Amino acid sequence: MRIVIVFESMFGGTEKVARAIADGISGAEIVNVDDAPSDLTGVELLVVGGPTHAHGMSRAATRSSAAQQVDHPSRSRTGVREWLDSVGPVPQGLAVAAFDTRMDQSRVLTGAASLGVAKRLRRLGCLPAVPAESFFVDTVPVDAGPKAGEPDRAEAWGAALGATVRRTVS
Ligand SMILES: Cc1cc2nc3c(=O)[nH]c(=O)nc-3n(C[C@H](O)[C@H](O)[C@H](O)COP(=O)(O)O)c2cc1C
Repeated sequence: MRIVIVFESMFGGTEKVARAIADGISGAEIVNVDDAPSDLTGVELLVVGGPTHAHGMSRAATRSSAAQQVDHPSRSRTGVREWLDSVGPVPQGLAVAAFDTRMDQSRVLTGAASLGVAKRLRRLGCLPAVPAESFFVDTVPVDAGPKAGEPDRAEAWGAALGATVRRTVS
């Protein structure tokens, strides 16, 4: 079963979460959105995640603002918004899951990039295997990374997702 995880990350936190999800879903390929394929033929589960910027998915302006806040290069140059707008036709009914990273406060206050990711995936004809999920980061300093316990929660989420989809496909 071909499983692809596409992540966007500026400071590295979402990449850590994506790698933890991959640890949970055995056999998953993990790809930075900069290198993500536009042809998804043969993919049976697609997992897409990115950081929450200005209540939603990043844009060029928010990525540029993020890049100016640290003295190391950003992990991704482009965003999942742009990638999802550029992918070709996807296998109809492709099982998908969306995640994001964001601050650990009420979603009403923070927004959640995963909701926008999930909406774009549905528009492409994909079927959500599980509801969109958020994982929390510390933001002092801005690149503090996932909060304690979040990589473990991401790994468990990945394991449950993999089990759900394998049950459906087999
Ligand atoms: C420009 C910018 C805007 C942000 N806006 C939000 C926001 O609206 N809600 C939120 O919860 N976090 C916000 N954050 C914090 C990010 O969600 C956090 O930096 C991200 O999850 C870290 O992921 P990364 O290490 O993969 O870049 C923002 C960060 C930046 C740089």
